[in-house]
Amino acid sequence: MITLKPLSQYQETGSITITLMGEKTPRANLPSELKDTLKLLDLKPGKLEAVKTAASGKLRVVLYARLPGELNYDALEALTADMVKQLNELKAKQVDVLLLDAAVKELTSSFYKQLLLAGDCFDRYQTSGVDPLDPGREDKPRESFEPDFTIYLIKGLALKAEEGKLHRAALLAEGIRTARRLVNEPANVLTPERLAQEARALSKQNGFDIEVYDELQIQDMGLQAFWSVAKGSDTPPRFLVMRFMNNPDTAEVLALVGKGLTYDSGGYAIKPAESMATMFCDMGGAAAVIGAISTLAAMKARVNVVAIVAACENMISGRAFHNGDIIGSLAGKNIEVVNTDAEGRLTLADAITYAATVIKADRIIDIATLTGAVGIALGREITGVVADDETIFSALARASELSGDKIWRLPHCEHLAKHNKSERADIKNSGGRPAGTATAALFCRAFAFGKPWGHLDIAGTAYQDKASAKAPAGATGVGVELLALATMELFR
Ligand code: BES
Ligand code: MN
Ligand code: ZN
Repeated sequence: MITLKPLSQYQETGSITITLMGEKTPRANLPSELKDTLKLLDLKPGKLEAVKTAASGKLRVVLYARLPGELNYDALEALTADMVKQLNELKAKQVDVLLLDAAVKELTSSFYKQLLLAGDCFDRYQTSGVDPLDPGREDKPRESFEPDFTIYLIKGLALKAEEGKLHRAALLAEGIRTARRLVNEPANVLTPERLAQEARALSKQNGFDIEVYDELQIQDMGLQAFWSVAKGSDTPPRFLVMRFMNNPDTAEVLALVGKGLTYDSGGYAIKPAESMATMFCDMGGAAAVIGAISTLAAMKARVNVVAIVAACENMISGRAFHNGDIIGSLAGKNIEVVNTDAEGRLTLADAITYAATVIKADRIIDIATLTGAVGIALGREITGVVADDETIFSALARASELSGDKIWRLPHCEHLAKHNKSERADIKNSGGRPAGTATAALFCRAFAFGKPWGHLDIAGTAYQDKASAKAPAGATGVGVELLALATMELFR
């Protein structure tokens, strides 16, 4: 939790004091008892240093962080991550933060969000306590860490305005945590039905509507491409439609469609063991749209948004689809399945058609862990974007700037769409390796009925093996903030 107070009310309450100041911060801004300890340090920009002092008669640790001259999102993020790591080592429960430089003004929202998320980590399956089979093993403490922060603001930062920012940052952090939690749960726990239950709980908690359709309804509704993927599994699929209609001033509706493969074995185009081991993360797009609509509802944002998830497993069985099958779709197009491992776009195709024709959305944005190719092209920190609409792209670009979630645009040229041409049906589900991210995206666009469309490929960014400054090891929660902020941008 974070509490904000004006600097004039500074009183040492926590065991740790963090002083955040810039190179040009006047020393006069320092509370007098800190002035002495400052002399002990030769501070380098962006570095965090600890010093033990016995000032005010009580031993305490002061962490100084000198803000770099060129303060930007990434620098602050690295600093915050480092800070929280040190706090964790010091087992700090109550922390005072002196924000002594008004230069952070533009970045306080990010700072609050980063502080709230930096100690988050997925440790619920790491048992704590002494292991009876190995009594010599030390009690292993939980790794996730959530101290209480009291942040004292320098004069240039108005308390009321900052409290508003903190409130929004806390709701965004909550949405991001939600998405991370859903993605991190393994496939044996987070089945399509369980995902539906989680979404239902979030709808009650945050105030949005939800409808869940089961395997019989999915077939009745004509979601043939989705069902073709789902039918090979003994674990039944679910189709989720979530609505938050909170802007009566306009009839405009935005659809957010998230890929919801709770497991992707590759099907008969089976994946090798190493790449299959993390394929419980293949519902990262679903987690992002669920996290985004939860956040928008919690914020009571003035938007009309419908989030759609086609949740299923891609498995092998006597009922599974084959490489070479020709399947139908809600749009009426026949699809040649050249590769059962290009399953995400098949499930998205029907969900996108549903958004365009049943929901009659005016704009559609889909988000998916869709192609390994996007990680090869852009790495693990940049989400690939394809869009045929400049308004949507601008909204995403603005959201990227504000959230720190990096994006880069890939082409949607007509000649690339031709890669998906089939000799045996209307379209095929893979255009091969060249421009694999763009051709996968353009497959999805073929089901958007010409509606303005945008597409986020988070296969490289949704899940990471090692912790970074941005997120702990595992799910990153990428997409929640991008989608929530882009949605608000589109309804401005
Ligand atoms: N779920 C995968 C993509 C993926 C890769 C997600 C790495 C997360 C991390 C997707 O369904 C897939 O298998 N894509 C294939 C497409 C190919 C068969 C055209 C791929 O990228 O290899
Ligand atoms: Mn696949
Ligand atoms: Zn997949």
